[in-house]
Amino acid sequence: MKRRILSVLKKNKGLFISGESISNELSISRTAVWKHINTLREEGYDIESLPKKGYRLLSSPDILTLEEIEEYLTTNFIGRNIYYFENLDSTNTKAKEIALNEQEGTIIIAEEQTKGKGRLGRSWISPKKKGIWMSIILKPKLIPSEVAKLTLIGAVAVNRGLEDMGIGSYIKWPNDILIDGKKVCGILTEMTCELNMINFVVMGIGINVNLDREDFSEELRDKATSIRLATGEEVDRKRLVGSILNYLEELYIPFEERGDISKTIEICREKSILIGREVKVIRGDEELIGKALAIDDEGQLIVEFKDGKIKKLFSGEVSIRGLEGYI
Ligand code: BTN
Repeated sequence: MKRRILSVLKKNKGLFISGESISNELSISRTAVWKHINTLREEGYDIESLPKKGYRLLSSPDILTLEEIEEYLTTNFIGRNIYYFENLDSTNTKAKEIALNEQEGTIIIAEEQTKGKGRLGRSWISPKKKGIWMSIILKPKLIPSEVAKLTLIGAVAVNRGLEDMGIGSYIKWPNDILIDGKKVCGILTEMTCELNMINFVVMGIGINVNLDREDFSEELRDKATSIRLATGEEVDRKRLVGSILNYLEELYIPFEERGDISKTIEICREKSILIGREVKVIRGDEELIGKALAIDDEGQLIVEFKDGKIKKLFSGEVSIRGLEGYI
């Protein structure tokens, strides 16, 4: 009911609507309306009330709930069902717990993660309301080996979403987004599958939006940044989430339906920070130096190693040589 009252207030944003109209429209008592309005206020909604005029929504809080994101969504299914948490260990962990029984496109978002997970068993710092920490449940009818391409779709969706907000970024194949040579976003794609069938995929996207320098450990400061630190811009998280999810669906549908990943690859190439650069490829205990030559039509990175051998990488850990060593 609270959500329905919020939606009436949002429809009339900036205008007064009487308690009586709300109570008639939703068939609840005026006291119930008043109680829900107070709860909304506690959640951070600024709602003015004046005798004889009623209620007026002045502003909404900076929270990543469905009610706040949906006005930016143009999708059919991605983001239409959002589980919102103020605090969670990890959105990926939660998503994996519930994925089997949830519809495709369901999102888990948390304002803060206490055990955010990065790739290769690393942790991911996720301070409260300073970033976007979300996981998307997908159920593609694909063979498991195709899943690596989904990470590229995620990376392109983030790159495009940032572009919509006037923020230029680069893609560090296959799963990082960089601004000014530092990481602002990482993607952790996990799946459960059978031999030839995917049960579900969880695509975890972490974006450092408004983190301050002190939020990063000493060790990370040279390698990671936030959008605000890099651009000086305060980013509207709701708009950014909406935009990313719109691109995600736009790129996902042709891929899932007919294996068409051409648009994603085109943007990966155009925005690649790796191509033409010296790279360090980490495979288990091995570290190999080479030059990234291209990204092929299947999304594989083509690298020429020091010994002259040319190899295609399907996924993996690749660092680029920066001024201060490899990042
Ligand atoms: C990486 O670059 O190492 C991947 C980082 C992925 C972080 C995100 S934040 C939302 C989701 N939940 C997690 O625990 N991890 C991913």
